[in-house]
Amino acid sequence: MVESLEYDLVICGSGLAGLRAAIAAATRGPSLRIGVVSKVQVMRSHSVSAEGGTAAALYTDEGDSIESHVYDTVKGSDFLADQDVAERLCREMPHEVYQLEHWGMPWSRRKDGRVDQRAFGGYSFPRATYASDKVGFFEMQTLYDTCQRHERIEYLNEWFVTSIVHDGRRFLGVTAIEIATGAFYAIRAKAMIIATGGAGRLYSFSTYAHSSTPDGLDMAFRAGMALKDMEFVQFHPTGIMPSGILITEGARGEGGHLLNSEGERFMSAYAPSKMELAPRDIVSRSIMTEIAEGRGLKSMTGADCVKLDLRHVGDEVIREKLGAIREICIKFSGVDPSEEPIDVRPVCHYMMGGIHTDIDGKTEITGVWAAGEAACNSTHGSNRLGANSTSECIVWGRITGELAADYVAAGVPQSPWPHHVVAAEEARIYGEIFKGSGDANPYEVRQTLTDTMNEFAYVYRDEAGLTEGLRRLRELRARPWRHVEDRAGEYNTNFVNVMELDSMFRVAETVLVGALGRQESRGAHARTDYPRRDDKSFLHHTLAYHGTDGPIMRTSPVKITNYQPVERKY
Ligand code: FUM
Repeated sequence: MVESLEYDLVICGSGLAGLRAAIAAATRGPSLRIGVVSKVQVMRSHSVSAEGGTAAALYTDEGDSIESHVYDTVKGSDFLADQDVAERLCREMPHEVYQLEHWGMPWSRRKDGRVDQRAFGGYSFPRATYASDKVGFFEMQTLYDTCQRHERIEYLNEWFVTSIVHDGRRFLGVTAIEIATGAFYAIRAKAMIIATGGAGRLYSFSTYAHSSTPDGLDMAFRAGMALKDMEFVQFHPTGIMPSGILITEGARGEGGHLLNSEGERFMSAYAPSKMELAPRDIVSRSIMTEIAEGRGLKSMTGADCVKLDLRHVGDEVIREKLGAIREICIKFSGVDPSEEPIDVRPVCHYMMGGIHTDIDGKTEITGVWAAGEAACNSTHGSNRLGANSTSECIVWGRITGELAADYVAAGVPQSPWPHHVVAAEEARIYGEIFKGSGDANPYEVRQTLTDTMNEFAYVYRDEAGLTEGLRRLRELRARPWRHVEDRAGEYNTNFVNVMELDSMFRVAETVLVGALGRQESRGAHARTDYPRRDDKSFLHHTLAYHGTDGPIMRTSPVKITNYQPVERKY
């Protein structure tokens, strides 16, 4: 049986972008009924685990500038960022930092009481605004607190949105499962913002929460929207061994050194002017090169790694500014970073790709916007600079929230509700997935899928590896894993896991196909068989549309305003 609900605006996802969007929409349209639908409880959204900073050029009186932030972002992107979009991010961020402050954000302070900023990779100025190393946690609390002032924001916590309902052109609503009861719902709405975050659990070595699977990207993909630039996956240089939990770039911003087996600060050979604070793509490649050339070390599990040394930073600074990572090191690796270097290696941390949007976060379906990591508005091109992600969530949360509220206020024409589409989705879920049968264990299949991505679409890629990865992915997908052993309605995590796996196959395929097609090296996409950037053939975005035999690939142009591509040197 299909239950039903109705909102003016549904926001899918309750992380930084989703909550900022909810506040913006509720402020702009106080009478709007807004539903924030999330697979998890609000404060369990992956945004809470952001650690190191939120970028903004605040101190123009001390030499920083918006232009410098824009240029660093564009250069960091290896010139694939749309420059008008990068400029919008950088222009709007200072205001958002102070807006958060006015809502209660406890930014760390300088001695003179002004908001402090720390150094982060790829920037010409210390520009990562921070709150110790728990930036996401405090930002989320601040936004969630602020949301409480708006009575018309409702929370559908622990709901799994399964599909977007539209009439071919315009948005009509979504279908969703209430995880607590297992009930299937049609939620009618006039507008939607997709803010479901990134899909980094496509990789087994990952900084992401286990809930960060590509369901949000996949429902957009299935609804006919393009996924853009999916081949660009960011590997953060310092995932702690063996768990992969993030050790913030703030650790290097506060002075941490990367060391190889000879005890050398090897970054001097790769980025002599920035050293450990080169952009992430460069630092991650440098680590993997050290390992490949025999200057890595073995971590406790036998996996290759290098060392991150914080001892000289001092126990006092570590406790004050890096307290969360100190605790992570002690609890998850048994190492006190004040006393011993930490074992680290590149870890999947961010997807530059996502749902194709314009500069306003507008998607290809009227009435649907996307914001935050789920979206690809092309701010980050092929490599994002650290601290620009929380910024992007906040800026495009606000922009899309306001635009969606305006769209609803202007009056949305009514279309007949397509009961047959909802019935087909119900059959897909309950007929094919819930009641399927087969002897492949979906948990093992999921592990093999994520291991395959780790093996073949990691920091360095090549044609043979990507082809093999794609072959294994397709072979795995053909196995009989589409079944749910647990037939309970309430809190059926077995069912949720299989639904997530279903989306992982389609989205992983767009990463591999996009990576195979891009026969160049740019930003985070490093092909050993095509080691150079090729602006003549590949200075464009990649678009993947859903097709029955795999993604249908197209391209779209990069917007260049002020900065012609040049070779990136640090
Ligand atoms: O290293 C970090 O704290 C991560 C920040 C980011 O991804 O922006």
